[in-house]
Amino acid sequence: MAKNHKYIFKDSKKIDLDQLVQHYQYGWWSQNRKKADVKKMLENSNVAISLWDGKKLIGFARVLTDYVYRATVWDVIIHPDYQGQGLGKLIMDKVLNHTKLKKVSYFWLITSDKQKFYKKLGWKMEENWSMYWDRKANSKGCPCVD
Ligand SMILES: CC(C)(COP(=O)(O)OP(=O)(O)OC[C@H]1O[C@@H](n2cnc3c(N)ncnc32)[C@H](O)[C@@H]1OP(=O)(O)O)[C@@H](O)C(=O)NCCC(=O)NCCS
Repeated sequence: MAKNHKYIFKDSKKIDLDQLVQHYQYGWWSQNRKKADVKKMLENSNVAISLWDGKKLIGFARVLTDYVYRATVWDVIIHPDYQGQGLGKLIMDKVLNHTKLKKVSYFWLITSDKQKFYKKLGWKMEENWSMYWDRKANSKGCPCVD
């Protein structure tokens, strides 16, 4: 574990949008996100946790929820230079232990390649429960993500 005390978590949707758009470069599915869309996304997310090394954004995760029964976690991204130091685990801890989310019974997320990371944090895999509908794929036959 690195000296995480020098990093600061923020529980706020007031995030430098330019840095957040840049941060989305580090997720293979989020690289084409545009500033105006990210602004709207952030405004309409329920919880946004960011992680800072001074003024530099180094981690992010957000939640959509009804605050009672269900929550979904999206866009868990640690800057590549800061991965492997326990920060991904810490940001997920911040999400799951967030005071506004304490009552939520079930959390969900989608991942195609980070199952081992989440399993270490207590997440379970249930292939038969989950379905999704992709607007682009249904209109163009394109397996697109953003
Ligand atoms: C996935 C991600 C958030 C992990 O963040 P991180 O800070 O590197 O992870 P941590 O250092 O907190 O790792 C916690 C544990 O998970 C393990 N782990 C992390 N990434 C892993 C991976 N890809 N495969 C297997 N285990 C992994 C670590 O070894 C560590 O195990 P330990 O507790 O036994 O030491 C980070 O790699 C990332 O941002 N990737 C790019 C974006 C992305 O794909 N996000 C996930 C979206 S679903």
